[in-house]
Amino acid sequence: MTAIEKFQVSIEAAEAYEELFVPGIFAEWAPLIVKATGVSPGQAVLDVACGTGIAARTAADVLGGSGTVVGTDLNESMLTVARRVRPDLTWQQADAQHLPYPDRSFDVVLCQMGLMFFDDRIAALSEMARVMTSDGKVGLVVPSKIDNQPAYSRLTEIVADEAGPEGAALLSTYWSCGDADELTSLLNSARLTVVALYEHPGTASFASADDLVKTEIEGSPLYTRITEQTYQRIRERARRALGEWETNGRLHAPLRGLVVCAGK
Ligand SMILES: C[S@@+](CC[C@H](N)C(=O)[O-])C[C@H]1O[C@@H](n2cnc3c(N)ncnc32)[C@H](O)[C@@H]1O
Repeated sequence: MTAIEKFQVSIEAAEAYEELFVPGIFAEWAPLIVKATGVSPGQAVLDVACGTGIAARTAADVLGGSGTVVGTDLNESMLTVARRVRPDLTWQQADAQHLPYPDRSFDVVLCQMGLMFFDDRIAALSEMARVMTSDGKVGLVVPSKIDNQPAYSRLTEIVADEAGPEGAALLSTYWSCGDADELTSLLNSARLTVVALYEHPGTASFASADDLVKTEIEGSPLYTRITEQTYQRIRERARRALGEWETNGRLHAPLRGLVVCAGK
C-alpha cells in the first residue's frame, strides 16, 4: 500500500474533522504558528499536511489577498473539504516527504500537527527546508509529550488497560514528537536551526468528555481493532476519568503543544 492509499479517509470523516476537530482542537494553534513564523502580506506560504486547511486559511487572512497560499495533504477528502471552505486558495495532493515544488519557492512553510504521522520525519523536514527561501521560516506545531498531558495520559492508561499495550501504542503516535530536545535535534538533522520554541497550554474543547473520547477513538485506527464491548468500557471509564474537566456542560481538557519556528 502506498502512503497516499494509507491516508485516505472518507469525505464524511473529513467533514466530521472540519466540524468537530478543527473548532475543538486545531483552530487554536493556527494563529500561533502564523505569528511565530511572521507571516506577512506579499509572502508565498505553503501549508504541509494541511488537513482541511485551518493553518492555510489563517495565513491567507493575514496576507489579506496579497501573496499566495498553497495547502498540501496526502488525503484527497481533506482537500475536498478545504476546497469547499476556501475555493480561492490552491490545494494540491502531495506527500510531505516528496514536495512537488522547486527549491526556494516559499517564504514560509507551515506544518501544524502533522510531523508525528510522517514515516521519515527528517526527509519531510528536509523537503520543507528545500522549498523554503534562504531567509524563510518553517513553522511546526506538535503535541507535547504524554507526561505533560494530564487528561490524555488518563485516556491512554484506560486504553492500555482495556485494549492492551498494542492498543495504547496506536494512540501514542500523537505524542511522539513532543520532546523539545529531540525535536530540536530532528530539525538540526534536516539542516534547520530553531529560532523560537515554546510550549503552549492549549485546550481540547468538546460538548462532553464522552464526545472527546468518541471523536478521538473513532477517528483513530484503534476503533477498528477493538470489540464493541471494549469500546464501551473505555468510554464508560474515560467519561468518569475526564469528568473533572467538564464545566458548565462543556469539556475543556488540557492539551499542551510545542510551537516552533526554524530557519536555515
Ligand atoms: C491531525 S491532521 C492535521 C491537519 C491540519 N494541519 C490541521 O491542523 O488541522 C494530520 C494530517 O496529516 C496528513 N498526513 C499524514 N501523513 C502525511 C504525509 N506523508 N504527507 C502529507 N500529509 C500527511 C493527514 O492526511 C492529515 O490530514
